[in-house]
Amino acid sequence: MSDHSLWFEGIRFPEKTHNREMLREVRDNFVVKDEDTIIVTYPKSGTHWLIEIVCLIHSKGDPKWIQSVPYWDRSPWIEVKLGNKSLKDQQSPRIYTTHLPIHLFPKSFFSSKAKVIYGIRNPRDVLVSGYYFGKQMNIVKNPETLEQYIKLFLQGEVIYGSWFEHVHGWLSMRERENVLVLFYEELIKDTRSTVEKICQFLGKKLKPAETDLVLQYSSFQFMKENKMSNGIRFHDFFVTENSTLMRKGIIGDWKNHFTVAQAEAFDKIYQEKMAGYPPKLFPWE
Ligand code: A3P
Repeated sequence: MSDHSLWFEGIRFPEKTHNREMLREVRDNFVVKDEDTIIVTYPKSGTHWLIEIVCLIHSKGDPKWIQSVPYWDRSPWIEVKLGNKSLKDQQSPRIYTTHLPIHLFPKSFFSSKAKVIYGIRNPRDVLVSGYYFGKQMNIVKNPETLEQYIKLFLQGEVIYGSWFEHVHGWLSMRERENVLVLFYEELIKDTRSTVEKICQFLGKKLKPAETDLVLQYSSFQFMKENKMSNGIRFHDFFVTENSTLMRKGIIGDWKNHFTVAQAEAFDKIYQEKMAGYPPKLFPWE
């Protein structure tokens, strides 16, 4: 029986929203411009939060844009068509989003000055978030139990492939001037300084009162209530009326879900795959 997914270059994608032609086209022919900003994440790492922050930085905290235009039109996914607009309709300076691993990212980026913000989150929380998200969607066939989902995640057979490979690929870019690596955990613990870091990276100067507005309108509660940000209802592949992109918005929720055995099994693979990074690079360690 089909599980509604397609494979491209070793990565699993949902066939309802992706196709090989588009993935190939994006990698080989999408022309990235120097003034573009691209938000890159592995799914469930806080993508929508970053979109909201970047949009609000652009509007200097004015919420009109985020309250009137759905997030997928403000910052379209380059590899998937969610809204009505074509990618080419975006006005400069363009903001894009993607979950693509580096080997599928537009080649033109690597000789451009476009800015990439790469968001990372503790893979255990990514996993739990993805497990619940999968239950809200009928986009691909997802495993019933967390145990099965952990197995699939560790094998890299969930949507967008292995978290480890994604992070290795993108972290190899972290010394580049036009790549900013951010952690969801930093955003939670010190939202203001992290937002200021993003402003600096984007070359935007905000007054303290404007930064206050960015924080206010990108807060979990505000985003949850803003249907242009939590606009899950616009998609026919979300199952229930109560489906939400803003589930809990905390760090360490995995501890409420993993058994001791699951945590140990995860750790063993994590240690093997993540050996060699400088100590304290990852805030959850
Ligand atoms: P949880 O499912 O753990 O709650 P993505 O945007 O990549 O799909 O990631 C979704 C995760 O980011 C969800 O995690 C969601 O709650 C969290 N998130 C979204 N907006 C947030 C915000 N403003 N503050 C904190 N977490 C947020």
